[in-house]
Amino acid sequence: MSQPKPLVEFAGTGRFLPDRVVTNDDMARIVDTNDEWIRTRTGIRERRLSDDDTTAAMMGAEAGRKALENAGIGPEDVGTLIVSTATPDRWLPSTACDAQALLGCSNAMAFDVSAACSGWLYGLSMAEGYLTAGRARYALVIAAEKMSAIVDWSDRTTCVLFGDGAGAAVLRRAEGDRGIVSAFHRSDGHLAELLYRPGGGASVPMDEGVLARRDHLLKMSGREIFKNAVRSMAEAASNALEGAGISGDEIDLMIPHQANIRIVEATAKYANIPMEKVYVNVDRYGNMSSSSIPVALDEALEEGRIQPGMRVLTATFGAGLTWGAMVWQF
Ligand code: ACO
Repeated sequence: MSQPKPLVEFAGTGRFLPDRVVTNDDMARIVDTNDEWIRTRTGIRERRLSDDDTTAAMMGAEAGRKALENAGIGPEDVGTLIVSTATPDRWLPSTACDAQALLGCSNAMAFDVSAACSGWLYGLSMAEGYLTAGRARYALVIAAEKMSAIVDWSDRTTCVLFGDGAGAAVLRRAEGDRGIVSAFHRSDGHLAELLYRPGGGASVPMDEGVLARRDHLLKMSGREIFKNAVRSMAEAASNALEGAGISGDEIDLMIPHQANIRIVEATAKYANIPMEKVYVNVDRYGNMSSSSIPVALDEALEEGRIQPGMRVLTATFGAGLTWGAMVWQF
């Protein structure tokens, strides 16, 4: 089978990371943990945390501004602005509308995607649909995550895992063979309670009980998430490769969601891709939810790890549960 022709391609990418570096030793001053435990179980050495005044929309807008510059277009050229976030700044309006105002994307429709860590890849597929239907010339797909605002800073089993940051890409209709070659997405709402925030929403509104139980913060069944993550990312990667008509050994670089180095290694093994061909930044940033992949993509392009003609496999997994994978041709 020959490789399908892409419908859309990347025109530019960008990222924003807060300046504040928080090491594992710093975490050991907050909860009962240590560098050795965190490094060996997760591969994380440090993460970036934003200050109280920095919102998800601000981080997303900064990443978006860089992606627009990199694409050589202005904010008014964007017809669709999608923000993937698990940490929206407010209930209403969307973080995308706040980012739109900051960026000046005055000709765009703006909305959020809620698919946790998988949100940015979901957003790319949505943008692909809008662009292919001729509804917009350029789409800006941002991931913006302020995970520090929703983790429970008294729970050592979760707070050590996450970091803040944002990534973005501009998409346009493909003119040649470069772009998104294949995509695979799935969800399973039956497993919602493996990773969730039980209270503070419309079904269990915020009250003193929610606050006392800390139910407005992230709860996670770590081991179950781990098993499902490996299984789902392997399934998604295999389907995306099949959709592209290629095998793992024809992939030049893999950019997996950066939740945990052991999940990354297991997924790469299933996809038959050696670790030298896997982009890793979980050691520097922890798990930035849906921002992990676009930040890694922007870094890999900047570092020259992705060259014209290369094929990239990306795979993700997150709360929902949600998961997915894509093959990109550069
Ligand atoms: N420091 C020190 N000890 C700790 C810490 C910590 N930060 N956290 C837990 N422990 C202890 C536990 O209390 C437990 O102690 P006990 O045996 O005395 O009860 C022991 O370490 C082992 O705990 P486990 O939970 O069994 O450890 P495990 O090997 O499963 O590793 C981990 C935990 C790292 C969370 C792992 O399950 C994991 O990575 N799961 C996937 C999590 C994930 O990636 N989530 C996000 C994915 S989706 C998304 O990106 C939004």
